[in-house]
Amino acid sequence: MGSCEETAGWRTVLPLLLLVHGVAAEQWPVPYKRFDHRPKTDPYCQAQYTFCPTGNADGSIPLMKNEDVIDVFRLQAPVWEFKYGDLLGHFKIMHDAIGFRSTLTGRNYTAEWYELFQLGNCTFPHLRTGISEPFWCNQGAACFYEGIDDQHWRSNGTLVLVATISGSIFNQLAQWIRDDNNTGIYYETWTVQASSDPNSSVWFDSYDCSKFVLRTYEKLLELGATFKRNIQTNYTRLFLFSGEPVYLGNASSIFGPQGNKSLASDIQKLYFPYRPHQSFKELVMSILDIYGKVVLDKTFYLYYNLEYWYLPMKPPYIKIIYEEVPLPSR
Ligand SMILES: *[C@@H]1O[C@H](CO)[C@@H](O)[C@H](O)[C@H]1NC(C)=O
Ligand SMILES: *[C@@H]1O[C@H](CO)[C@@H](O)[C@H](O)[C@H]1NC(C)=O
Ligand SMILES: *[C@@H]1O[C@H](CO)[C@@H](O)[C@H](O)[C@H]1NC(C)=O
Ligand SMILES: *[C@@H]1O[C@H](CO)[C@@H](O)[C@H](O)[C@H]1NC(C)=O
Ligand SMILES: *[C@@H]1O[C@H](CO)[C@@H](O)[C@H](O)[C@H]1NC(C)=O
Ligand SMILES: *[C@@H]1O[C@H](CO)[C@@H](O)[C@H](O)[C@H]1NC(C)=O
Ligand SMILES: *[C@@H]1O[C@H](CO)[C@@H](O)[C@H](O)[C@H]1NC(C)=O
Ligand SMILES: *[C@@H]1O[C@H](CO)[C@@H](O)[C@H](O)[C@H]1NC(C)=O
Repeated sequence: MGSCEETAGWRTVLPLLLLVHGVAAEQWPVPYKRFDHRPKTDPYCQAQYTFCPTGNADGSIPLMKNEDVIDVFRLQAPVWEFKYGDLLGHFKIMHDAIGFRSTLTGRNYTAEWYELFQLGNCTFPHLRTGISEPFWCNQGAACFYEGIDDQHWRSNGTLVLVATISGSIFNQLAQWIRDDNNTGIYYETWTVQASSDPNSSVWFDSYDCSKFVLRTYEKLLELGATFKRNIQTNYTRLFLFSGEPVYLGNASSIFGPQGNKSLASDIQKLYFPYRPHQSFKELVMSILDIYGKVVLDKTFYLYYNLEYWYLPMKPPYIKIIYEEVPLPSR
């Protein structure tokens, strides 16, 4: 945001004021909001599959001996493969996780970050009878559990050693995972950019399973880990392409008594034909369907940091890209 000097004359203040209230002063990409704790989820949100069924209930992560040597694995597998065969095989929609193996005990572990109430609920809201405000079940969280399901990752995905760290680094990482889990609460499906040119302005960054893996790698680097070279690491990203976004407000300012009824109804029209989603396949069908709508109206309403934004959509509108983000290095 810009700033005004009180002593300046109107000649200089006026353009500054315009800047403060205009979109030009916005900080891009909009920083992902962190919270000081994780709120309880609303009982309305019911998971189709239990979140983190084999993790410790309190999220605890075992302490390693400082002198232990821990192998770190990149884990990736297609989201749909195990349930829907290759019906949607032309989209590379991958789930990412990280594996750890202790040399001293031989035990291994998986860490991943994903939706509490499935991806559809993080991408599309619910409409509850008598309440005009869309309701989101969009929390995501870290899950840490013992075991690595080699076959799951290896057969249609990736299980590859990317680094070796000490037990001491692992223990510091474990503390960071807990802190990250308590402050990064909401899943964000979309990356929003000005165009498909990789150098174009990024308006919003996604916050999903792959971002957890990328943050963890960066943290490991900071803690002193060295990553292997010559391993290509690609990740799935869901893109929206738009001109500069316009801030609309939060749920109460849009859908509350003082809200703009026509805007409220436009937002509902975008989202509500698509719920609820009982399967991942239905979700992908809805994303394909919303594509048609976006092309027609050139409009998308993004929900990010619990606030709504108007996106003036531009070709190619929506894209699913499996692109490389190299392992970090100094
Ligand atoms: C989404 O949330 C609704 C409401 O809590 C729930 O019934 C449903 O099982 C969730 N998952 C999916 C995939 O729709
Ligand atoms: C992260 O938070 C979720 C939701 O509170 C919890 O179930 C999970 O155990 C936590 N994970 C870790 C690794 O702390
Ligand atoms: C993890 O441990 C399980 C159970 O001992 C074993 O079957 C699997 O091969 C191990 N995977 C890795 C990558 O170490
Ligand atoms: C791997 O893909 C094949 C073919 O789509 C499928 O039959 C198999 O169940 C998949 N394996 C796993 C472990 O997901
Ligand atoms: C993106 O920017 C980098 C660094 O400024 C430049 O080397 C690269 O050629 C640019 N790529 C495109 C596609 O414009
Ligand atoms: C929503 O926006 C209004 C107007 O900007 C603000 O007064 C209110 O505190 C916000 N509500 C929440 C829950 O952030
Ligand atoms: C209300 O929202 C509509 C878009 O749905 C917009 O065109 C109009 O300018 C808004 N009105 C006010 C008073 O903000
Ligand atoms: C991985 O990403 C790179 C660059 O983003 C791309 O050229 C390559 O085709 C991708 N690999 C696969 C298997 O899609």
